Amino acid sequence: MTEQQTSCDIGFIGLGVMGKNLALNLADNGYKIAGFDLDHCKVDEILAADAQENTTDVPRIVPCHSFTELLGKLKAPHLIILSIPAGAPVDNVCEKLIDAGINADDIIVDTGNSLWTDTVEREKRYRGKFNFFTTAVSGGEVGARFGPSLMPSGDPYAWARIEPVWHAIAAKVDPLTGRALERTSHTQPLPQGEPCATYIGPAGSGHYVKMVHNGIEYADMQMICEAYHIMRESLKMTPTDIANIFKQWNNGILNSYLMEISAEVLLEFDPETKKPLVDIILDKAGQKGTGLWTAVSALQVGAPATTIAQSVFARSLSTLKHARIRAAKLLKGPAINDVTEQERVLCIEQIHDALYCSKIVAYAQGFQLIKLAAREQNWPIDFGGIAKIWRAGCIIRAAFLQKITDAYDRDSDLGNLLLDEYFANEIAKYQHNWRQAIAKATIDGIPCGAFSSALAYYDSYRMDTLPANLLQAQRDYFGAHTFERIDKPQGKKFHVTWSQKKRDMLEVD
Ligand code: 6PG
Repeated sequence: MTEQQTSCDIGFIGLGVMGKNLALNLADNGYKIAGFDLDHCKVDEILAADAQENTTDVPRIVPCHSFTELLGKLKAPHLIILSIPAGAPVDNVCEKLIDAGINADDIIVDTGNSLWTDTVEREKRYRGKFNFFTTAVSGGEVGARFGPSLMPSGDPYAWARIEPVWHAIAAKVDPLTGRALERTSHTQPLPQGEPCATYIGPAGSGHYVKMVHNGIEYADMQMICEAYHIMRESLKMTPTDIANIFKQWNNGILNSYLMEISAEVLLEFDPETKKPLVDIILDKAGQKGTGLWTAVSALQVGAPATTIAQSVFARSLSTLKHARIRAAKLLKGPAINDVTEQERVLCIEQIHDALYCSKIVAYAQGFQLIKLAAREQNWPIDFGGIAKIWRAGCIIRAAFLQKITDAYDRDSDLGNLLLDEYFANEIAKYQHNWRQAIAKATIDGIPCGAFSSALAYYDSYRMDTLPANLLQAQRDYFGAHTFERIDKPQGKKFHVTWSQKKRDMLEVD
């Protein structure tokens, strides 16, 4: 094999939307790519994109037509990145690469949205055959092209090899301000700054963290939708009015990528009907599964991620379109009274504060979930590190993540974000309006399940006594499940034969 033939630095399998953009990003950073996709058109597409962008005579992407050819074109030990659908395709490709001659020193990196438990299994299954490493990627196609947020996990040896690659292509943050250093075109120079890529931990942990990122993403999106819905229905505002409010909010504490794109979406008009495009879109939300996985995992580890779960349920409820159309005719709600201009201005401020407080709670739930799962799995997670790599590149990037980073800088072992002084004070400052916004929506019959579940979480979390004492009594009554007493050592169990009727039946005193 000549040096020319084996000159590629990285093998890239899967050149769809995410794969193509990640591969071009790698090429911008000086890595020579051997590219393969089962669909040859995808290979042609990336070659065409590269031909347009490449200003040198040396090709940055080398097309391959088989796994054997791909291995032959790579420097050893081989580094191969997969950007393929999660599930069976990952194992399919891994098996084919084994057949093609991959060996124990080689590294395969799965960058898909794989289920974290699959990743744990795969790492064990392929041990000794090759080094199975993963890196969860957030940021959509633009993020992949110009700087994603990367959540790598697996063998530290593989990380040592991949770290410089990921640090090169990841989104960058200005270390002084915590602000994203944006790159939006291949003609712009590569930004220097803190890379949004940090080693998360052993196999599975990176995908777990990305899964929770997506759970928070579901909550963030749902909460923005609820703010929109209240303004639309209770305050009779147009999409353009709401877009202008979102733009204002994006200049303050609610600054985030999702806020920014929501404003842009609401300003879009349908060329065919001339109506706001949002009004033409069928109100049935899709989902690929990561939010659902987060909610299931929260239930399994006993983390009360209620706002995240509620956001998954909100999507499910939206899909019951036929039933909702029938129910809309049958089930009556309250009449919505007109508001004065002064009331509208006040209510918009209340909705802003409800969104802000609910957002704090959703992040608190997400981080608490990671904490409980990490404890169960024995993952040494750096929570401040996670907040740092979510400051740019990913879908939930927001100015607010710098505040979370600061909170973990103050206390790396923080049990719950709500207990951090800054966030506790913020909620104290804004909670009156949070409650008012939910009250207004409730009185008008506008659903705001994410806002309400966040508030219920907050109120439950801050109560030193909950009615779980009655619940324990109920359990003991019908099932002799026992209870503990507040005036006796913890762990000591008590049981009572509760009613006279039951005492008579069981013939006890
Ligand atoms: C990201 C996104 C990405 C994807 C979501 C969409 O971080 O880049 O989260 O992973 O767009 O998985 O999820 P749904 O289709 O479930 O909304």
